[in-house]
Amino acid sequence: MELPSGPSVTINGSRLLARITELAQIGAIEGTQGCSRLAFTDSDREGRDLVVTWMRDLGLTVSIDVVGNVVASTNSDGAAGAVMAGSHIDTVGTGGRYDGNLGVLAGLEVIEATLAAGITLNRPLAVAFFSNEEGSRYPPDMMGSLAYVGGMSVEAVLEVEGADGTVVGDELDRIGYRGAAPCPGVVPHAFVELHIEQGPVLDNEGIQIGVVEGVQGISWTELRFVGQSNHAGTTPMNLRRDPMAVAAEVAVAARAIATDMGGTQVATVGSLTLHPNLVNVVPAHATMTVDLRNTDEDSLQRAEHQLTDRVQKISGLEGITVESRSLARFEPVEFDERVANCIEALAQHKGLSTRRMPSGAGHDAQMMARICPTGMIFVPSVDGISHNPAEHTDDKDLVAGAQLLADTMLALTEVTW
Ligand code: GLV
Ligand code: MN
Ligand code: MN
Repeated sequence: MELPSGPSVTINGSRLLARITELAQIGAIEGTQGCSRLAFTDSDREGRDLVVTWMRDLGLTVSIDVVGNVVASTNSDGAAGAVMAGSHIDTVGTGGRYDGNLGVLAGLEVIEATLAAGITLNRPLAVAFFSNEEGSRYPPDMMGSLAYVGGMSVEAVLEVEGADGTVVGDELDRIGYRGAAPCPGVVPHAFVELHIEQGPVLDNEGIQIGVVEGVQGISWTELRFVGQSNHAGTTPMNLRRDPMAVAAEVAVAARAIATDMGGTQVATVGSLTLHPNLVNVVPAHATMTVDLRNTDEDSLQRAEHQLTDRVQKISGLEGITVESRSLARFEPVEFDERVANCIEALAQHKGLSTRRMPSGAGHDAQMMARICPTGMIFVPSVDGISHNPAEHTDDKDLVAGAQLLADTMLALTEVTW
């Protein structure tokens, strides 16, 4: 692709790193580099307050919508037609400091550097952080950006109940982030998300930049197995109806489905709760989640069918009942080839090594791709560790990614679709 010969700006890497460190103090997990800022908790509110303060300090127009998405724009009329960066600042309960936060703070840095340079652009710039990207407390993941693009109604978002019994609308009110701006939100000219890879590919191959081609499909299911609670010492093995035994077999089956299918298929049982969860009681019920992902929709559907089949057979043999509920289901997404070409050309122009790749993790960009040309930039995750306080990306990679985000955003202000 021919490089747009437009304006350029040099970001301030130290300022970006300082902000990442400061935001990471909120919800910091003691003795680690990581954070716990689950969506709509007090620590999420504190993180939001800090980032909104930074946005306002730059004189940006800040809008908070009815599901708590925050968009800051250089244009007093808002972000319509802007080149927008963004991601999320909520984390999983045992999260790292870069997942999501990098994309938001790098977007802010691009805007600050551009304003400081006094450059006039053809289009406004904007940076967003979307509510509840992680989905750990309230499903589905990417909830805020899904609502932003009209994929989930505001009413449906506000009434989602978490495993802890709290409700999104109440929690949004409680933390003061049920805003007035409408949702779906305004349509930007383009959307670019800088993110850590969260997997091992770039680190293993010694490549600096991932040019993301798309995001794999995601299927989350909650399974509730209901059996017969009974005495652990007196109930003969052949007379048990044990939901934990079923959950264990289903977990092993899910893993086998993924390993047998191969390719990009993965399967994870990330949550299992028993009731009453006591040493000498056969449980009454077991609730577990299964996360299935694949870059190919047909293969993902095959994995889902196999899982359903195994769940029915295993629970039938034990004589227990199963309730199944879909928590999230998103088909694979392909990003805009023109944006990917632009990212790749700009990176190579700077002498950075690049690789095209799919994303294994879900991202807000996959929702924004429904309404505007969208792309993603990955930087390496050391040892591929993420959703873990030990998540780490080297400073030089963070700064190189942010500079590439700046180059890309400014180039896209010159591009017409
Ligand atoms: C969400 O970010 C996910 O990929 O689980
Ligand atoms: Mn993320
Ligand atoms: Mn995450």
